[in-house]
Order: sequence, then C-alpha cells, then structure tokens
Amino acid sequence: MYATRHLARRFAFSQTRRLSHVPSNAPALKSATSEDLAHFSKILPQTCILSTLPSLNNTPSTTTIEELAPFNNDWMNKYHGKSEMVLRPRTTEEVAQIVKWCNEKRIGVVPQGGNTGLVGGSVPTKNEVVINLANMNKVRSFDPVSGILVADAGCILESLNEYLAPHNHIVPLDLGAKGSCQIGGNVSTNAGGLRLLRYGSLHGSVLGLEVVLPDGTILNQLSSLRKDNTGYDLKQLFIGAEGTLGIVTGVSILAAPAPQATSNVILALPKFDNVLPLFTKVKRQLSEILSAFEFFDREVYDLAVKHNQGRALNADDVEGAECFVLVETSGGNREHDEAKLNALLENLLESDEPLINTGVLSQNPAQFASLWAIREGLTEAVSKEGKAYKYDISIPLKAFKEVVDTTREHLRSQGLLRHDAVKNVVGYGHVGDGNLHLNIVAAAYTPEIEAALEPFVYELVGKYKGSVSAEHGIGVMKTHALHYSKDEVNIEWMRRIKNLFDPHGIMNPGKVLP
Ligand code: FAD
Ligand code: MLT
Ligand code: ZN
Repeated sequence: MYATRHLARRFAFSQTRRLSHVPSNAPALKSATSEDLAHFSKILPQTCILSTLPSLNNTPSTTTIEELAPFNNDWMNKYHGKSEMVLRPRTTEEVAQIVKWCNEKRIGVVPQGGNTGLVGGSVPTKNEVVINLANMNKVRSFDPVSGILVADAGCILESLNEYLAPHNHIVPLDLGAKGSCQIGGNVSTNAGGLRLLRYGSLHGSVLGLEVVLPDGTILNQLSSLRKDNTGYDLKQLFIGAEGTLGIVTGVSILAAPAPQATSNVILALPKFDNVLPLFTKVKRQLSEILSAFEFFDREVYDLAVKHNQGRALNADDVEGAECFVLVETSGGNREHDEAKLNALLENLLESDEPLINTGVLSQNPAQFASLWAIREGLTEAVSKEGKAYKYDISIPLKAFKEVVDTTREHLRSQGLLRHDAVKNVVGYGHVGDGNLHLNIVAAAYTPEIEAALEPFVYELVGKYKGSVSAEHGIGVMKTHALHYSKDEVNIEWMRRIKNLFDPHGIMNPGKVLP
C-alpha cells in the first residue's frame, strides 16, 4: 500500500404523548401443535421441516432444540425465541398454503431470511412458527439490456452479485452481511448499506415484489417495468415492513451496470471537525465517480485491528488520527477516475490547512478489498469485543461526534464505564446518508446498562429531530421508541394498515408497532 504522505498534525422531534389507537381485535395467538405439524407435512417434504413437536401418534421428534437454535437466536445473540417449528418452503405456493393455515388457526409466523438483522425482528418473541426462505434461492430472470433482475426472495445478496458479474451488472446494494443476508430480508428491512450514496434506497431500485399476504393470498406485483403509474404503489408498503404485512417471496430489482474502474482510499483525519469540510470537498472534486464516503472513529478502528478485520494500516498512517474516512470511486474510465482521485489527494495534502493527516490508497484489487474489509469488519469487531448495544440513528452530520461523546460521558457519570460493564463507546457510519452507528460495547447485556442508555439515546436523537432507525428497522428492539420519530397520526395509520392486511395479527407479532 502506498501512503501518500504523513503530516504530523494533530474529528424529533420527540412526540412523547401516549398514543390512542384503533384497538386490535386480534385474539391471543395459538401455539403450533402436532396436528399442525401433520398438516405441514402434507405441504412440505420432511427435509423442509424442523420441529421438536411429537408426531400425531406421539412419536417423539428426532429434532433437537440445538438444531432449532440458529433460527431462534439472532446474529448478536441478544434476542431469543422459543419456536418449536421451522418451515423451509421451496415455492411461493408452499408459502401461501402454510400462511393460509396459520391464519385460520391463529398461529403466529416469523418470516426469516439470513437472520442477520440487528433489531431482533427475525426471531420469534415466543414460539411462533419460523418460515425461513433459504430454500427459495433461484434467479427467475435477468434482462442484460434493461438490467432488470427477478429473483426468489431467499437468494443470498452475494450470490446474486456472482450471478450478475458475467453480465457486467451488480445489485445496487452492498453491506457487510452480504454473504448471509437475503434479498427478501434486504427489501423487508429496506437495508441501506455502503453505497446508498451512489445507488439510492431500495424504495427506488425495487421495481416489483411478489408477496404472500397474511391470509395466504399471493399479491403478484412482480413488475419488470421501469415506469408504472397505475394507482397506489402497494409494493412500497412491504419495503421496510420487516415481515409484519406479508412474506416477500419474489423481488424484481433494477441492477446497476458494473463499474469499469473502482478505487478506494482511507483518509486519516486529525479531528472529527474536518469530516464535513472533507465531505464537501470530496463531493465537489470527485462528483459523479464518488460511490461511498464512510466514517469510523479511532476507537472502533482499533477494535477492527484487534480483531483482525482487514489489514492494519501502518503505524505512521494512524498516528494522531482521531477518525478515518473511506472514500470509494466507481466509474467508467480508469485513467480519468485515477487522475481525479489523485488530484483530490494532492489538493488535500498540499493545502495550507490540511483536512487530513495522510491517506492510504489501494493499488490493486487485493488492497482495495483489504481497505473495505476494515470498514465492513467493524460490526464483527464490535461483536467480538463484547455485547453491542447498537443505535442506528439519523442525525445531522455535525452532531455525530457530539452524540458519541455525550453518550460516553453519560455512561461515565453513571459509573458504568468500566471493564466489567461498558468497555467502549464507538461511532461509525454512512456520512453520505447522515447515518451514525453508535455502538456501546459491554461485557454483558444487563438491565442496568439498558436503563442508562434508554431513553437517554432516543431523547438525544429527538433533540436533533433525527430518526431512531436510519436503516436497521424497528424489530422488537425499538417498538417502544417509535414515537420519538413518528407522531401519533403516523403510528395510528401504520396500525390501521397493519390491521387491514393482518387482522389476526399473525405476521411477525410483537415487531415494529408498539
Ligand atoms: P433477516 O435478518 O432474516 O430478517 C430481517 C427482518 O426482515 C425481519 O423482521 C424478518 O422478519 C424480515 N424478513 C426477512 N425476510 C423476509 C421476507 N422474505 N419477507 C418478509 N419479511 C422478511 N443493514 C443495513 O441497512 N446496512 C448495512 O450496512 C448493514 N450491514 C450489516 C452488516 C452486518 C455484519 C450485519 C450482521 C448486519 C448488517 N445490516 C445492515 C443489518 C441488516 O438489516 C441486514 O443484514 C439485512 O438487510 C437483513 O437481511 P436478512 O436476510 O438477514 O434478514
Ligand atoms: C454497518 O454500517 O456496518 C451496518 O449497518 C452494521 C452495523 O451497524 O454494525
Ligand atoms: Zn450501516
């Protein structure tokens, strides 16, 4: 890697009123029984059913609780369900039959993709039936001229990119969980990720969806049209619904042409205050080739190094750095793009008041991947260090550092900043999207730490008129905090929509709505 130069210079509105709402008529949900298991065995082969329930003639199951554990526990091992049944349908028709039965029997279901969600939405709160989409993993069609890809919801994001690569296209979404998360899960969380700055949100790039509604009806909206103004755009309701309105079984998405040239650089900054002027400068100078502008503070970088995420930068390059920014360019002409990036770096280093200490520029695909590995590995580094309380917030860019520092000071004042309680308070995120990931790394999840953090963090977000969930969703983690970002009229209409689609409340119960 080539260090350009090292300079030894020393980075809601809160609607707290309680809500009145349309009362739900939904009676309590029932647990799945051996009769239900017998019914599902008529729909699915045994290889697609995992259940600890005995059969109808009381033969004990050979499935163990341990085998169900990966479906009952979330990625962070923070949220735990007690489902006794995981169903893995292969077709939309199978999903429809299962859901219809569950609706008639009032059995709660949890749609599950790659189970990489970070708000507890993908695992049961009790013993709901898990409907895991992993067996729905076929590409249905791809048109290399229009770039329109139609795929089963259970396709893994990375596999879709591998499928598209020979056609010179990419999925217009990228995130650290790409090796496990599914396109249906991405759509259902409206995942943002590392290149939203370039490709925009899934609300724009998803062209159509196929959804099994809570009564088992198949809503076919799998349009492969760029333009379709024929009334209400129903698919938008399911993008970010976190499985509370139906099960997404198919996705039509506009793939993007693969960039012909990409490059990246990690810039080391002496102080956070330089991030915003730097962002302004980078946007102006790189303009159309800028594809990512990602921020991470020094403390989380040190965790990444400690836990071997990517290759550590040279000591000289990190000395005196309070934070870092990863800038990526993607374009169509290597010479042109490199000239632009080099001009930017020279301009940054030669300025009278440099915004950066130094920069580490990738020189080949391996180095490009290695720089990205540091940024993409932050989530993993944090979770290797301890138990993470993850706050995924939208706030004004200038408040990023203040929010991290204020939270740290608050925890210190509560006597919680000690190695056996809170170990680190770190910040990273998508500067281009105004999205900070405030992570509090603790030795264990404890009620004491949670009480110190909530509502403290949400009130801080409210003070900045921000969002309590920029991209991870509400899940089960933030149902009680929804009102910091949505007023009572909004929540009331969300509830009405939920009741309209799912009057018996079977679809991912306990998620999103308080
Ligand atoms: P799951 O975790 O299985 O489910 C998530 C939610 O969607 C649940 O509520 C579930 O019920 C619902 N759901 C899943 N599939 C369906 C379906 N077919 N139909 C209806 N509902 C469904 N998120 C970001 O936005 N940006 C990031 O940069 C990002 N990076 C991440 C990095 C790591 C290392 C990890 C672990 C997570 C990251 N996430 C990120 C979180 C994120 O939400 C996801 O990884 C991803 O979008 C979830 O997809 P999944 O298939 O794993 O869904
Ligand atoms: C990220 O940006 O890395 C993801 O959203 C995951 C996280 O917040 O850790
Ligand atoms: Zn993120």
